[in-house]
Formats: sequence, C-alpha cells, structure tokens
Amino acid sequence: MVGLCVNVDHVATIRQARRVQEPDPAQAVMLAELAGASGITVHLREDRRHIQDRDVELLRRLVKTKLNLEMAATQEMIQIALAVKPEMATLVPERREELTTEGGLDVHGHVDEIGMAVRSLREGGIAVSLFIDPEQDQLSAAARAGADFVELHTGTYAEARDRKTQQAELARLIQSATVGRELGLLINAGHGLDYRNVGPIAAIPEVEELSIGHSIIARAVLVGLERAVREMLAAMNTDRAR
Ligand code: PXP
Repeated sequence: MVGLCVNVDHVATIRQARRVQEPDPAQAVMLAELAGASGITVHLREDRRHIQDRDVELLRRLVKTKLNLEMAATQEMIQIALAVKPEMATLVPERREELTTEGGLDVHGHVDEIGMAVRSLREGGIAVSLFIDPEQDQLSAAARAGADFVELHTGTYAEARDRKTQQAELARLIQSATVGRELGLLINAGHGLDYRNVGPIAAIPEVEELSIGHSIIARAVLVGLERAVREMLAAMNTDRAR
C-alpha cells in the first residue's frame, strides 16, 4: 500500500493570517495520524510564512509516524534540521515570491552543493529526499548526490489541461520511477495531487509515499481533517495492485 505523508502547512497558513494560536498544526497532526497518514510533512520556509520554528520543535515531539521536513538546502535550514532531527528532509528550491514550490530542484546543475547538503544531513541520521522534475538528468544527479529518495514533481501532470497531455506526463513519471529504482533511489511523489488525479500516481508500483497538502486541507475545511485524510487514502488505493 502506498503511504500518505500529509502536509499540514496550510493549517499554519490560516493561523498566520491572524497571527493567533488557532488552528494548531499539532492538533491536525494527531487527526491525520489517527486517520492513517504514514507521515507528516511541514515546510519551514525562509520567510516563515506558515510553519514557524516552534511548530517544527513541537511536531518533532508529537509526530508518531514520521516527520518529513521540507526545506531549502541553506546553512540555516541544515543547522535547524540537524538540531530537530526529522526522520526525513526533503530538499526543495525556494523563491520568496512564489505561492508554493514551483519547479523541482536543479540537482544536475548543482550536484556538488546539493551533495554536500545531503552528506551533512545523512551524517546527522536524517534520510534525504530531493524534490525533482521527472527527468533522467535530475535522477542521475540525485543518485550521484547520494540521496536516499527522490520526490518526483507531479505538478505538470496535475496541471495538464487535456487527457493527452496528462497521459504523456503520467508516462514520464512512470518511466522516471523505473529509472530511479534502477539507480538505487527510493521513490516518492507529490505536488498538486487531489482526489481526482491521485489514482494513477498511487498505482505506480515503485512509489513508496505521496506528499499531499492543499487538496486535503481544502476538503478538511468542509468535512473535517480525519474524514479528508481517510477519503484521500481510499482514492489513492483504488488502482493500486498491492
Ligand atoms: N511536495 C513538495 C516538495 C511540496 O513543496 C509541496 C507543497 O508544499 C507538496 C508536495 C504538496 O503539494 P500540494 O499542497 O499541492 O499537495
């Protein structure tokens, strides 16, 4: 069964809109785990627009499944990760002006720098995932950089406007998952996945875990988080053979 890492950043987004105490990502974590999440993701951004340092410290103590810290490969973030010790760190590109993470990390163009960040984190006992576009060059570079996992960027698949484009993007993800495994990488995927488009991605046999945030939190506003997570797990596992 494919795992679901629930991204709770948007719970903090609502809280930060008023700079108050509620809603609390810590309470969201408990409900998501209760509903069957295999992990919890938070992105501590340089601008601290949603998740705060204190959230990460608190969640480290609270998360019973697995904490995945999404972060830029900066010295500041590496020091925080080494202090907090999440089970996994996912390195992502970060730009201040973006609404959410846009493209994948250019590992191919920065293999030495990213390799150094991967080494520091792994020496601290943290598994490292690199968020990359589903491209051969990026997969090979991720293997060279010493990553444990790659998270394949599903944004282009999710945003496809017609079926033909979506099928082509799906084929690219399937191919990348195979190539990644051949290179010795473990495969996660995420970005832009929702209740309608998740099935074919969850059915890729090499995929270990999906990282999903926006669609789950958006549904949770209406139906509650526990139900939203359970419904996502059901949507994920309809097409999956195992
Ligand atoms: N994976 C990565 C690397 C991300 O940056 C994000 C967004 O924070 C997600 C997954 C989740 O994307 P979404 O909120 O669209 O489900």
